[in-house]
Formats: sequence, structure tokens, C-alpha cells
Amino acid sequence: MQTPVYKRILLTGVNGQVGHALHQALGHQKSLCDELICLDRSQLDLSNQQAIRDAVQTIKPDLIINPAAYTAVDKAESESELAYAINATAPGVFAEEAVKLGAKLIHFSTDYVYAGNKIGAYVEDDTTAPLSVYGKSKLAGEEAIRAVGLPHLIFRTSWVYGAYGKNFLHTILRLAKERETLTIVADQAGAPTSSRSISDAVTKVLGQWSGDSSGTYHLVNAGNTTWHGFAVAIIEQYSCLQRENGWPPLKVKHIQAITTAEYPTPAVRPANSCLDCSQLSRDFSISMPSWHDALVTELKALSIN
Ligand SMILES: NC(=O)c1ccc[n+]([C@@H]2O[C@H](COP(=O)([O-])OP(=O)(O)OC[C@H]3O[C@@H](n4cnc5c(N)ncnc54)[C@H](OP(=O)(O)O)[C@@H]3O)[C@@H](O)[C@H]2O)c1
Repeated sequence: MQTPVYKRILLTGVNGQVGHALHQALGHQKSLCDELICLDRSQLDLSNQQAIRDAVQTIKPDLIINPAAYTAVDKAESESELAYAINATAPGVFAEEAVKLGAKLIHFSTDYVYAGNKIGAYVEDDTTAPLSVYGKSKLAGEEAIRAVGLPHLIFRTSWVYGAYGKNFLHTILRLAKERETLTIVADQAGAPTSSRSISDAVTKVLGQWSGDSSGTYHLVNAGNTTWHGFAVAIIEQYSCLQRENGWPPLKVKHIQAITTAEYPTPAVRPANSCLDCSQLSRDFSISMPSWHDALVTELKALSIN
């Protein structure tokens, strides 16, 4: 039998969207990983630095994958200390412990590291200028990893959703069953990205990455839309599948476009969250599915009730 690429992978955040998808994907990739050790928050609290150090030194992984994060973007504005502990300090601690073992690190970051005022899609070298505590804490996490100098990959993604987890897809379907009119922000552009697309791409990267080079990559579904465009597509695609599958009908009749100014939130979001994935395609020959195709896949995976 072929020797797996990794002896022991430590995966965090397994109850989150990306962690769950990676758990599913890596569990089926025996050629990649001999032993997959998954830790949820109850087993490893990322706000506890010593707990991270102890866990890594006990488990002795040769690869750490860290999708766990403080992702409550608005709440972070009033909980900055906790957001920084989980998003900024913890990734640096993982990196410090990994380097002691000669292990590699894969970490996830966000479109919110950018200000969102660029015309056109962001490339990885563009200036970062986060607008929110969440974005600043995630950028600090990236910098903490780079400062350690271990073999690492950081994937910046955006607008994550999927059949599994709490996300925009589920919120829209719930509201569309309750209300005739939805009002959705139409002046923020980006790429809805399914957790499944992320885990598929990361799994492909893992099969190729030797660890000789480190880097930061954009990793989002292809194309872009607005939150309003995404909501419209969710309703349209659900309605097509609803007829085929006999799913419950939706009450919604109108999806009204509104501006960010009409929907104020504690955290400021970038107007342009579009990320260019050319570097991922050049270095790992990965072409991401369109956000629309990924949406259809996720809708088909929903167990509607
Ligand atoms: N969600 C998005 O739209 C989005 C957009 C861009 C980038 N990203 C980035 O992509 C990555 C994956 O995000 P996601 O969508 O999978 O997030 P998610 O669904 O919110 O999952 C985050 C996970 O982190 C865990 N976590 C939170 N605090 C923790 C702590 N103190 N100790 C241990 N675990 C803790 C959560 O545990 P519980 O399950 O116990 O709550 C959850 O499992 C993150 O780095 C995120 O910043 C996400």
C-alpha cells in the first residue's frame, strides 16, 4: 500500500463549516493521511495558549490545519480581546509549536483583510487595510504565522456557506418560508464560496504541496455577485429543485435590493470582496467551480424539512 503523505494531521474547528467539510474530505483520503485527529472547541479552546501548546506537543502532528476562528464579525467589534486571542494569537502559537516538531501549517483567512475600495478583483499582493476588528484580527493571525517562518499555506476565502452549518443560505431559506418580502444588500460584491469547494481544493493542494514553498492564496468560487444576487439565485434554484423534489414551497414574492447604508451593522464590510484566484490556479492547477454551480450542489445536499 502507498505510504500516506502525512502520518498525523491535527484538524481544528471540526464543527464549523470548513472544518466539517475538511473532516469529511480527509476522512476519505487514505493516501493523504494515516491518522486524522479532529478537535472541537470542547477539546481544545483556542483562547487558551497553553492548551494549544500542550495539544500540539502531545499529538505531534506533521500537519496542522486550522479552520477554527472567531467568525462573529459584528460581535467582534465589542469582543475584540477574544477575537484577537482566537484569530491572531492562536495561529501564531500553532505555528510556534509546529516549527518545534518540523510540522507544516495550513490556515484560513478572509476577504475582510482588504478595504474593498479597489476597482477589480484583489490579488494576494494588494495592500491590506481591514475595516473591522474581525478583519484586523485575521490579518494579525496571518502575520503571526509568517513571522514564525515555518512551511505554511494561508487561504483567504469569502462568503462561506454550505448545506452544513449556520450561514446565509439557511438564513435566506428560513426567511423566504416566513416572509413575502426580503430586503438584501446589493452594493457589496464578492464570491459566495461553498465549504465543500474549499475542502475539495485544499485536498488537491495537499496532494501536491511539498512544503518547500509557503504562501498566501485566494480561494473562492469563480465569478462574483452581490448578497442580493446570491439571495435571488438561492430562491430561483430552490424553486426549480422544489418542483422536482416536492420540497415545501416558499412564501417569498419580492427580493428587494437595498444599500449597505440602509442596513447598518456594527462592523464595516468591504464593498468589493472579489478575490482573484489566478495564483492558486498557476501554482496548483486548481480551477474553482463557479459560485452558481457550487450553490446548486449545496442545495441538492440540503435535507429539506
Ligand atoms: N464564514 C465565512 O463567511 C468566512 C469568510 C471568509 C473567511 N472565513 C474564514 O474561514 C475559516 C473557516 O470559517 P467557517 O466558515 O468554517 O467558520 P465557522 O463555521 O464559524 O466555524 C468556526 C469554528 O471555529 C470554532 N471556534 C470558535 N471559537 C473557538 C475557540 N475558542 N476554540 C476552539 N474552536 C473555536 C467554532 O466552534 P463551535 O462550533 O464550538 O462554535 C467553529 O467550529 C475561518 O478562518 C474564517 O475566518 C470564513
